[in-house]
Amino acid sequence: MISVMFSFMTPGGLGAAPAFKPSPALPSTRDARALAAQRLPRLIYDFIDGAAGEELGLASNISDLQRVRLQPRSLAEVNSISLTTSFLGQDWDVPFGIAPMGMCDLAWPGTDRALAALSQRHNLPLGVSTASSTPLEELLRLSGGRAWFQLYVTGSTQEAMALSSRAAKAGYDTLILTVDVPRLGKRPRDVRNGFTTPFRMTARHFMDFATHPHWSLNTLASGLPTMANFSGANAKGYDRNAPRTGANWAFLQELRAAWRGKLIIKGVLSAEDAVRMKAEGVDAICVSNHGGRQLDSAPSAIAVLPAIRQAVGPAFPLLFDSGIRTGDDIVKARALGADMVLVGRPFLYALAAVGPAGAERMYNCFTGEIETALAQIGIAAVSAVTSACLYQAPLPA
Ligand SMILES: Cc1cc2nc3c(=O)[nH]c(=O)nc-3n(C[C@H](O)[C@H](O)[C@H](O)COP(=O)(O)O)c2cc1C
Repeated sequence: MISVMFSFMTPGGLGAAPAFKPSPALPSTRDARALAAQRLPRLIYDFIDGAAGEELGLASNISDLQRVRLQPRSLAEVNSISLTTSFLGQDWDVPFGIAPMGMCDLAWPGTDRALAALSQRHNLPLGVSTASSTPLEELLRLSGGRAWFQLYVTGSTQEAMALSSRAAKAGYDTLILTVDVPRLGKRPRDVRNGFTTPFRMTARHFMDFATHPHWSLNTLASGLPTMANFSGANAKGYDRNAPRTGANWAFLQELRAAWRGKLIIKGVLSAEDAVRMKAEGVDAICVSNHGGRQLDSAPSAIAVLPAIRQAVGPAFPLLFDSGIRTGDDIVKARALGADMVLVGRPFLYALAAVGPAGAERMYNCFTGEIETALAQIGIAAVSAVTSACLYQAPLPA
């Protein structure tokens, strides 16, 4: 029985996916996460929701952002609110984009494509992972040219350079080099659940899939997601478990010399490293702890953002991710020094919760919350958010 079911779970799938059930609205990331927990097999939910170690890093990303408070202001002119944000020489409709996430289509078939379409529809940047479930060329096209390719140095540095050349040839103008995975973080939920690549199905997985038939049938119909950038002759080119230590300072110099477009370094938590990266000629830095998925004992990303802003100076482009769950969080990140924010898990929760429509609903959630927060703090344009928007007095213990 198991082998029969698994034999169908092949790339390509059975065709004709059953339609998604009518689903409730998504009032918040919290609601999307709760629905995702019901609808996804445990194995998949934990892969998305989980983090390294005791998950204290993940928890502090969220709790440290929650402790930051905004200063309400009254009687300001906030009838019309602008979310337009300039970043790396481009105007975007909103102050956030989508973080690069590998194996997105595990959340729901077609997640990568739905997020690329969202990026085109609303003019926001889309991070396309090395481990995307859809080829990087197709995602750039679906995003209308708004995608940024995220590079991991898996395997040799020559292979990584070849992948960056492929991205350039496809037309990408922005590359994100992720540097916080010298080794894959240990994520106990994945170990406990037997989440491995390549995947080896056990009786427990079968029960997990069988008790989540909606996800399982749709995934069966569409085919199990693959590492789409490594198909055909290139099929063995990505080993998720291999160390990614090829991403070092020498590689950065080589990449900087070869990549003509904008270069962003993602996964930076040290002001000293940030200053050196700026000196090496990178165009932007993404302050991130990978959503707590790498080093459990790392500081929360929001805790180090002000020091990195201070170190690189007011004009240097800074991105931020890790722990963003609400529109208020995006306003707070901007007030603490970020020019643009990337949102990760909330979009996967939303797609898992309500299917492809989840992309638009989560987008509406964030934009609505940002506008409401700005109105309350008396700011008519997100570009005008500064540290003056923060509530400065110490909170009671
Ligand atoms: C399921 C999943 C897969 C991810 N895959 C990648 C990846 O391939 N490359 C990368 O640079 N970051 C990856 N990340 C990290 C995100 O880009 C981002 O840093 C993180 O999700 C931000 O934290 P948040 O989810 O709490 O918003 C992944 C995160 C998740 C949840």
